[in-house]
Amino acid sequence: MVVAIDGPSGVGKSTVSRAVAAALGLPYLDTGAYYRMATLVTLRAGGDPADPEAVLTALKNVEVDFVGGRLLLDGVDVSADLRSPEVTASVSAVAAHQKVRVAVVELQRAWVERHGGDAVVEGRDIGTVVFPHAPVKVFLVADPEVRARRRAGDPEAAGHTIDSIREQIARRDHLDSSRETSPLRPAADAVTIDTSQLSIAQVVARVLDLVGTL
Ligand code: DC
Repeated sequence: MVVAIDGPSGVGKSTVSRAVAAALGLPYLDTGAYYRMATLVTLRAGGDPADPEAVLTALKNVEVDFVGGRLLLDGVDVSADLRSPEVTASVSAVAAHQKVRVAVVELQRAWVERHGGDAVVEGRDIGTVVFPHAPVKVFLVADPEVRARRRAGDPEAAGHTIDSIREQIARRDHLDSSRETSPLRPAADAVTIDTSQLSIAQVVARVLDLVGTL
């Protein structure tokens, strides 16, 4: 069974997804890490993230796995590099390329298949595109101000003002929701949870309730 957890950044997706996975004893997949990985390999190869062919070329011949919440590139844990300002600045452009999405979605589906088809999968298009038949689909949202404050606590936000974080969130939301391919939006059958006034434990409990009612 796939539990799909979608939503923009700063709504608590990763924390909630990890906790739900732990409670259910299921593996956890962060699909955003794959778009970040595609960005990292392109930048490392000296390619232009705005050029889909450069990204696809960089993705060829790399071995990717996601183990225990860490992304392994050719066996090396690059999770910290995925959060660098350079990768964060270019990842929306990479994630907007249709051909790149097709290749990345294939890697994500193969990962879930290798894990017997059971996983908690976090992203933007899991309920709409990657696993449209997932029995549990959750779409998390939160007030922009709450999201900016939560993001400010992340290591990748170190040294940034709350204003610049709010602006960056708004810019990425716009790019992610207005792109032609797999824009950020809830699936018709997703349950939307506003996490603004909820603790992580409360959100996790709601998701586990949804799983329990299957
Ligand atoms: O969740 P994140 O911030 O690590 O995601 C990085 C980028 O990847 C973000 O700009 C949105 C994009 N993304 C996507 O387009 N589809 C997904 N399933 C996951 C992330």
